[in-house]
Amino acid sequence: MNDRANTFDCQQTIANGTYWMPFTANRRVRANPAGRIITSAAGPYYHTQDGHALFDTLSGLWCTPLGHAHPGIVEALKQQAETLDYCTAFQMTNPVTVRLAERIANLAPDGLNHVFFANSGSESVDTALKIALGYHRLRDAGGRFRMIGRERGYHGVGFGGMSVGGIVPNRRMFATAMLNGVDHLRHTHDPAHMAFSKGQPTWGMERAEDLERLVALHDASTIAAVIVEPVQGSTGVLVPPVGYLERLRQICTRHGILLIFDEVITGFGRLGENFAAQRFNVKPDMITFAKAVTNGVVPMGGVIVTDAIYETFMTGPENAIEFAHGYTYSGHPLAAAVGHAVLDAMEQDSLIARVRSLEPVLEDAIHTLDGRPGVADIRNIGLTAAIDLVPAPDAPGARGTALFEQGLKHGLLLRCTGDTVSFGPPFISTPQQLRDMVGTVRQIIDDLA
Ligand SMILES: Cc1ncc(COP(=O)(O)O)c(C=O)c1O
Repeated sequence: MNDRANTFDCQQTIANGTYWMPFTANRRVRANPAGRIITSAAGPYYHTQDGHALFDTLSGLWCTPLGHAHPGIVEALKQQAETLDYCTAFQMTNPVTVRLAERIANLAPDGLNHVFFANSGSESVDTALKIALGYHRLRDAGGRFRMIGRERGYHGVGFGGMSVGGIVPNRRMFATAMLNGVDHLRHTHDPAHMAFSKGQPTWGMERAEDLERLVALHDASTIAAVIVEPVQGSTGVLVPPVGYLERLRQICTRHGILLIFDEVITGFGRLGENFAAQRFNVKPDMITFAKAVTNGVVPMGGVIVTDAIYETFMTGPENAIEFAHGYTYSGHPLAAAVGHAVLDAMEQDSLIARVRSLEPVLEDAIHTLDGRPGVADIRNIGLTAAIDLVPAPDAPGARGTALFEQGLKHGLLLRCTGDTVSFGPPFISTPQQLRDMVGTVRQIIDDLA
């Protein structure tokens, strides 16, 4: 890299379009790449090529709650690379990965004791959907093929996750390739009833009855699973109404439908508990995870399943592969070693308790923006929050883009999707950093109004 630095012009190469950036307005970045290039990061800050520090308001993409360049992680990665850098994932394994599965199972709700590793949230979701199909088939209920997702849900970009997802722009272009038999619950967000809620809204539990309607429409005997994010993260922190997840659980149990919680964002402490399942005291049949499990340092994801699901697969000839699924990098030792370092740091530094103590700080700070000009709604739970801006007439998304670009000039890396800005700051943030983050956003919003 260094010997090429003299000849390599990163901005020019971006401008050329050689690097096709994911989920990015490529032409806008190509027109002005300055300020978009991050060269290093430490703690809760990124450092850009042009010399600015940016506070990491979303912990990367919800994945770096311990901040950057964590010494314990760096050391674990180095040691593991020197000891066992890769291990064939099929028919063989290694102690680091096996022990991580055990530690993750210990953190999960009782009865979810089996971990299948993948490498991303998208892979974890597709894995969970396949487990659901396999589970029913093995129980002679192979007619259960339908998956139920939810409007505004995000479950990654695989064909399965895209199909159960409910974000319109992510679906439109690929409409011909949706999984067969997928249906969606309505989302639970209705500002008329819950604008500026703190924590769980009290209105909206009855939206869970959508599932009964879909059961009546399709018949339970055709439905394999329901997948929801306990808190819908990517579309702007939509917090479940009081009683909603409990009701979904009841309906699923009654009809023999598996309930999957997609905890790719909420897993590993974001809501002040190991998993959202524990925060809301609702036990799903499967939990998907990714992101924070390795602090974003080496990709890893996975699915935690109940004993009943696991045991259902452990049948047939003893030498047969029970689940014809897996990835070359499932349970990668480098990712697993980093996973241990993350869990060690969470324990040693009581980071989940810290999230609980920071929750009211973020809540108080963010709700100082309630009712300000240009602000349509604010929501929060755990160490996460979102602000909806009033869209500019005839230019939806323009205010979000302006906020994002102003954020870069004011020391914040903001996550704006459309006219919504979501926050998921690192667990290591100080109360003052959270207040400063909101203070800067307030100033930018006032300037833009
Ligand atoms: C709930 C949820 N599921 C799945 C994914 C997809 O994860 P990945 O981008 O690692 O594939 C995300 C990503 O944000 C997510 O928030």
